[in-house]
Amino acid sequence: MLRKTTLITGGAGFIGSHTALTLINAGQQVLVLDNLSNSCRESITRLEQLTHTRVEFIEGDVRNQKLLDDIFSHFDIDAVVHFASLKSVEQSVRNPLDYYANNVAGTLNLCRSMARAKVFNLVFSSSATVYGDPARTPILEDLGTGKPTNPYGRTKLMIEELLTDLATSDPRWSIALLRYFNPIGAHESGMIGEDPTGKPSNLLPCLTQVAIGRIPELTVYGSDYPTVDGTCVRDYIHVVDLADGHLKALQALRDSSGVNVWNLGTGVGYSVLQMIRNFEAVTGITIPFQFAPRRAGDIAQCWADASKAGRELGWAAERDLERMIVDSWRWQSHNPLGYRSSPVPQFAHK
Ligand code: UD1
Repeated sequence: MLRKTTLITGGAGFIGSHTALTLINAGQQVLVLDNLSNSCRESITRLEQLTHTRVEFIEGDVRNQKLLDDIFSHFDIDAVVHFASLKSVEQSVRNPLDYYANNVAGTLNLCRSMARAKVFNLVFSSSATVYGDPARTPILEDLGTGKPTNPYGRTKLMIEELLTDLATSDPRWSIALLRYFNPIGAHESGMIGEDPTGKPSNLLPCLTQVAIGRIPELTVYGSDYPTVDGTCVRDYIHVVDLADGHLKALQALRDSSGVNVWNLGTGVGYSVLQMIRNFEAVTGITIPFQFAPRRAGDIAQCWADASKAGRELGWAAERDLERMIVDSWRWQSHNPLGYRSSPVPQFAHK
């Protein structure tokens, strides 16, 4: 019997490629759609090497309605995991229209094509950014959404609202909104990982690029936050744990309807200075850094209460911070230039 296919938009990217791997390893048939604007075809080749299967891949854009309609008419798709979006907070302030077009209009197109094809199972890649500056931590889903501090965050909140309205309008929809905290780490093989184009803006890629010598020193934004040591506190989560959350959400969707919201985090927060110290202890590499003023839009601290995902999905993050750092560093040191380092050099690393 032919297996139904899960469409993964943005499946060549950081979280998308790890989710594709998890789904394939769980025996699912996947189809990856990605416009490669912030990802590499090489990630698909690496997925094929890791899974010993051919991974169906289409280079294309969720803004292309005709392409989406064609995909749904050619493949027997029964669920979609939707990652395809732009994600730089800084760029979103400079080019808001790109963010609304890609993220919001792209999701609108996707939902239209899904409805026409009568595919109603959707997992959406959301973010803790929808909570804005939370009134209290840990953050529970029923805290309600807040005011995101930038256009990127507002696109995530708009999409959540759009999807909620959609599910209210038609009970056939079953939609999961997964609110990620701070995804880091990489698959333990060191074959796939985070490969930002240009200068990275997230903490872990900056740390690993300082360690490998691509960036001379780390800038720590802000030293006067009301936190344990004055630097911002975040809930870092291993990307493979996150991918597992998508598999569990997909399984849950098929037996439910309406909108379900789940936080995916570890429930533990680390400050920027604690991250630097842990990175140094795990890798043995000293990270030069200097303090700079606060970065616009950063909140002091946030970490998850992910017990709802525990109760309802049977999911919990299993990998600790040491494991996240070991895996991030393995990926970076095996691939100093990201996917452009192909083929994977097998030199020794600490
Ligand atoms: C940001 C977004 C989040 C998004 C995520 C992934 C906001 C408020 N946050 O998370 O929605 O999902 O990126 O793209 O919209 N830091 C440094 N030096 C650096 C880099 C970061 O000190 O060179 C600090 C930051 O100030 C922050 C922490 O490290 O306190 C984590 O930063 P980052 O990895 O960019 O994630 P967030 O800002 O939490």
